[in-house]
Amino acid sequence: MSDKSATLNLGEKSITLPVRSGTIGPDVVDIGKLYGQTGAFTYDPGFTSTASCESKITYIDGDAGVLLHRGYPIDQLAEQGTFLETCYLLLYGELPTLAQFSDFQSRVYRHTMVHEQMLKFFTGYRRDAHPMAVMVGTVGALAAFYHDSLDIADPHQRMVASIRMISKMPTIAAMAYKYSIGQPFVYPDNSLNYTSNFLKMCFSIPCEEYKVNPVLSKALDHIFILHADHEQNASTSTVRLAGSSGANPFACIAAGIACLWGPAHGGANEAALQMLQEIGTVDRIPEYIARAKDKNDPFRLMGFGHRVYKNYDPRAKIMQKTCHEVLGTLGIKDDPLLDVAVELERIALHDDYFIEKKLYPNIDFYSGITLKAMGFPTSMFTVLFALARTVGWIAQWKEMIEDPHQKIGRPRQLYTGAPMRDYVPLDKRG
Ligand code: ACO
Repeated sequence: MSDKSATLNLGEKSITLPVRSGTIGPDVVDIGKLYGQTGAFTYDPGFTSTASCESKITYIDGDAGVLLHRGYPIDQLAEQGTFLETCYLLLYGELPTLAQFSDFQSRVYRHTMVHEQMLKFFTGYRRDAHPMAVMVGTVGALAAFYHDSLDIADPHQRMVASIRMISKMPTIAAMAYKYSIGQPFVYPDNSLNYTSNFLKMCFSIPCEEYKVNPVLSKALDHIFILHADHEQNASTSTVRLAGSSGANPFACIAAGIACLWGPAHGGANEAALQMLQEIGTVDRIPEYIARAKDKNDPFRLMGFGHRVYKNYDPRAKIMQKTCHEVLGTLGIKDDPLLDVAVELERIALHDDYFIEKKLYPNIDFYSGITLKAMGFPTSMFTVLFALARTVGWIAQWKEMIEDPHQKIGRPRQLYTGAPMRDYVPLDKRG
């Protein structure tokens, strides 16, 4: 609690509201007792000024373009660490020692397979189902198989469920992909690291030898780190809200996946690549910039803008570098999509409309081109995002469950419907 306070005058009443300070970042006015003291609610659709919880996991300064996990800058984690190390950091609060990492890694690898009966779930979907639809269903279905990790009151079961989801998500994501292209499922290979194992499950076939390209594996590991957590975004808030009722962790993560699917959130990487393909050539960019600025046209430049970042998204800078590395490794010198992306970014960063509205490229702008070059179809982009974000969702869910002040999330509303009126029988209604 800080020594600051806020005074609110509402009609005849004047009340003092406590102000709380975090380690860094803006103070918050604690309005928890506002309704009791004044009979009024606050109104903030879209939560633009509302902190929904207290958290120690991730910090973002959107104006400065800073993203920290447990205090560590995202560029240091991405450039010097691995995704599994970031998973440990998000879950446990500290970077692991060698012994802790080796123990964590073996616990994650132990759970990479899914129950054999789950294969039937996949084959029950239409072949042309969007893999995100398959993800929502199959991740929710995990609750039907792993009954020994559903008791959220037991810390051991919470951790087992957490590890299970981090371990199984690549297997489930790869199965969703294999099913969509009519190829046999590939079982996990625990002799490979987390990300290489995922690449193998996606791209190997039983009749040929498959060697993981280490540069691509490292690049995908970077992409996973960049997507691992992003404080109280829409899907994470969904997971917390679902979890606040005591729902099991698998159901909560399925809810997060459903929310992530939307084009304003995780679906943006797919939408960004589709937009680049639609633009096609550099000479058509001015037409699309004009459409993005036209108030009467719903078109938006996908991969631009962010609710929190009003500066360059720090993840987008790393993503841009990774994109060039992947294209270089694969020998893709003249990718028309990359030409369009680079020129679009250049024009937008110099255009008054985008400057005034502080619209910078976000992480999704370059991730689509990179994933496409690696061989992933656009329909898998959001699935990869879900795979990486699972650890963030889990860490946030655990933090919420372990918070002694945790309550069911239950927002209030400003009611603007009909006031009370009497029922009129059907035969009396004109
Ligand atoms: N292209 C053109 N104009 C835009 C764009 C864009 N991509 N984004 C915002 N604007 C304009 C809006 O029209 C609005 O203009 P106005 O003030 O004249 O009405 C202004 O900028 C503010 O936009 P809001 O929608 O109010 O901002 P909000 O914070 O609610 O939205 C969002 C953020 C949803 C990300 C938005 O910028 C957007 O739709 N971007 C494209 C989709 C996208 O890339 N999403 C990925 C987000 S990152 C992630 O999930 C990993």
